[in-house]
Amino acid sequence: MDAGQSSLSPTTSFDRDRHVRFLKMMFHGLPSGYQEQEINHLTLAYFVISGLDIFGALDQVALVWSPIHIGEQTRPMTVFQRGFMPVDKEEIANWVLSFQARPKSKADLENGQFYGFHGSRTSMFPPDSSNVLIHNNSHLASTYCALAILKIVGYNLSSIDPDSILISMKNLQQPDGSFMPIHTGAEADLRFVFCAAAICFVLNNWSGIDREKAKDYILNCQSYDGGFGLVPGSESHGGATYCAVAALRLMGFIEDDLLSKMTSSSIINVPLLLEWSLQRQTIGGGLQGRPNKASDSCYAFWVGGVLKILGAHKFLDKEALCEFLLTCQSQYGGFSKFPGQLPDLYHSFYAMSAFSLLEEPDLKSLCVELGVTDFAA
Ligand code: FPP
Ligand code: ZN
Repeated sequence: MDAGQSSLSPTTSFDRDRHVRFLKMMFHGLPSGYQEQEINHLTLAYFVISGLDIFGALDQVALVWSPIHIGEQTRPMTVFQRGFMPVDKEEIANWVLSFQARPKSKADLENGQFYGFHGSRTSMFPPDSSNVLIHNNSHLASTYCALAILKIVGYNLSSIDPDSILISMKNLQQPDGSFMPIHTGAEADLRFVFCAAAICFVLNNWSGIDREKAKDYILNCQSYDGGFGLVPGSESHGGATYCAVAALRLMGFIEDDLLSKMTSSSIINVPLLLEWSLQRQTIGGGLQGRPNKASDSCYAFWVGGVLKILGAHKFLDKEALCEFLLTCQSQYGGFSKFPGQLPDLYHSFYAMSAFSLLEEPDLKSLCVELGVTDFAA
């Protein structure tokens, strides 16, 4: 390291090798700081596995130690050499499937609960003596992440029974079209409308969602300034705007590359949305989630993704955005939220996704509205 250069100093080009190393490290074990996020274990796994997939690196992840023989004939010595093998995709799929909540009987599907995937082991409350879960905490976000991982590892989704997920998911849709993420005690907003739409899209079955109601809810979330808030009447926000536009796209209500076919018949106000989204690029080149907020690396995906779906990504100052993202690139691999901080998995994954949108060489392209590579989608 150069004298005077801190370990957090930004680097000047996209450091592919270090990012792959960072994700591999996370694949083999999360640092202790992630303990408090145990409840989101499947989401963290999605960031790692989907991130590795963007780099096309899932085939060089599993650690193996193979013996090699060195030394002279008289003093032979065996040492172990570290190497990487493809991940065991079946093992990953079985691990993900182990979080699935299963109803005792078909009648349970009408009991108001959701039978999707739990976020982690601790959210699967101890089974009673008949091995049946006492509490069902399965969650729409974990279910989305579980299905995304299964898609990425090439698991044949027709072998899971989608009915328990889809029939019980209907219990979560509210009269206004929004979704609660879990069957009790949670807020309902656009994040979970997105998750519900992504789940149906992946399962290629729309029976779990009343799409017209969901569409109306999303349209009610578009604010006077063109962006979307998480609930009707709330301030426009980059994450909520992604959830709105991606869900509409997944449900087939807006066309891809909307801008090139822009007509006044679009169900959302596209010119205002475009203006709001482009205004999120700040003088420093990064994108912010809301006006008057600092640029944050994750919005290069949330807002950049909206622009990509609209066909308007070309209007961003890409060079300036890259420069900003590189100020968040850590020398340990991964990306931080703000320049010069330590990296975290969430911002790493979304900054890496943003680089894919920016067409960084050797990164797989993304199905933006689903959050997985085109190949996996
Ligand atoms: C900002 O959150 C981001 C959002 C509100 C978007 C969340 C997206 C989803 C739930 C879609 C599904 C994705 C997954 C991985 C389950 P923030 O709280 O960081 O916002 P802030 O920048 O205002 O703090
Ligand atoms: Zn962020």
